Amino acid sequence: MIEVAVDLGDRSYPVLVGKGVRSELSAVIPNGVRRVAVITQPGIGVEVDPGLPVEHFEIPDGEAAKDLTTIGSLCSSMAQSGFTRNDLVVGVGGGVVTDIAGFTAAVYHRGIRFVTVPTTLLGQIDAAIGGKTGVNLPEGKNLVGAFWQPSAVLCDTETLETLPPREYRSGMGELAKYNFLGGGALHELPLDERVAASVKIKADIVAADEREGGKRALLNYGHTLAHALETAGTYDMRHGEAVAVGLIYAAEVAHLLGRIDADRVAEHYRVLEAYELSNSLPENADHEQLLDLFSRDKKALDGVTFVLDGPSGPEVVVGVDRGVLAEALEKMP
Ligand SMILES: NC(=O)c1ccc[n+]([C@@H]2O[C@H](COP(=O)([O-])OP(=O)(O)OC[C@H]3O[C@@H](n4cnc5c(N)ncnc54)[C@H](O)[C@@H]3O)[C@@H](O)[C@H]2O)c1
Repeated sequence: MIEVAVDLGDRSYPVLVGKGVRSELSAVIPNGVRRVAVITQPGIGVEVDPGLPVEHFEIPDGEAAKDLTTIGSLCSSMAQSGFTRNDLVVGVGGGVVTDIAGFTAAVYHRGIRFVTVPTTLLGQIDAAIGGKTGVNLPEGKNLVGAFWQPSAVLCDTETLETLPPREYRSGMGELAKYNFLGGGALHELPLDERVAASVKIKADIVAADEREGGKRALLNYGHTLAHALETAGTYDMRHGEAVAVGLIYAAEVAHLLGRIDADRVAEHYRVLEAYELSNSLPENADHEQLLDLFSRDKKALDGVTFVLDGPSGPEVVVGVDRGVLAEALEKMP
């Protein structure tokens, strides 16, 4: 078992990584908790034993369930079952479950404690770490939420054995990102170490910038193109698959701007190959539409904003020229 600390003063918490670490649940439950509400989805089938009286709440599978209706019905069910301020939420599932469980914990009784057991690769290296919780509105993704840190995160890599291959690949796209955020040759490490190293990179960035005032934006490396592909709604891509292509695109943009050389671009291609990820835009990609969507990205405060690699590593670059962005799209495989 590998332990990584998310260092946030009196809100610090451990992330435990390894095969079977969900058995540590009872050991990480905060003092004073009397009952546990486990929030999960049908089909995940990951059992947890908190060693305390427990009640299970299932939410539907899929992004569509990540809305305020689900939060309302979970809070009502917990109230009907008599859950109090001293009780605990445990989220067992992928990013959809941990975002919902975290937000339920953030608002139920004005905030109760929670622990997550992320069961997707994307959840373990990204969604469950850092305290961003929330749900979607019809107007956009993740528009309602709270920063609410868990008491502990248990990244049990054994749970990944049942993950559908496409979900696994989606997680690999986010993993590839960490290679360029200080991770180096992460793809050469065994899985548990790779997950722990990614958690450590995210934990350190979150510790430096909990509420995304600066450094946390680096976690969006590869995400501007990914968000545009996802927002277009016409491409069949999981989030991490879109991020993977977005990493290549960001490298091409950085190269055109003279920020990185051809070797560094080639390294981006090599990393994706090592993770067996596709580096190409969808065949029918509409370049003009993607360019328009870049300027509507919610992270774009002052013109088109990209996280771009450079001599001192990735950094936020504001106001990238549309001509450069168009040329880089043409260069994409
Ligand atoms: N809060 C954050 O910082 C943050 C960061 C990144 C992503 N997210 C959110 O995460 C969500 C995506 O998460 P995801 O990619 O994990 O998708 P997901 O939660 O929808 O899970 C993908 C699928 O895998 C299934 N599944 C989960 N674990 C399984 C297991 N062990 N075995 C078999 N099937 C399993 C789920 O039921 C689901 O059908 C998005 O809503 C995104 O907004 C949040």
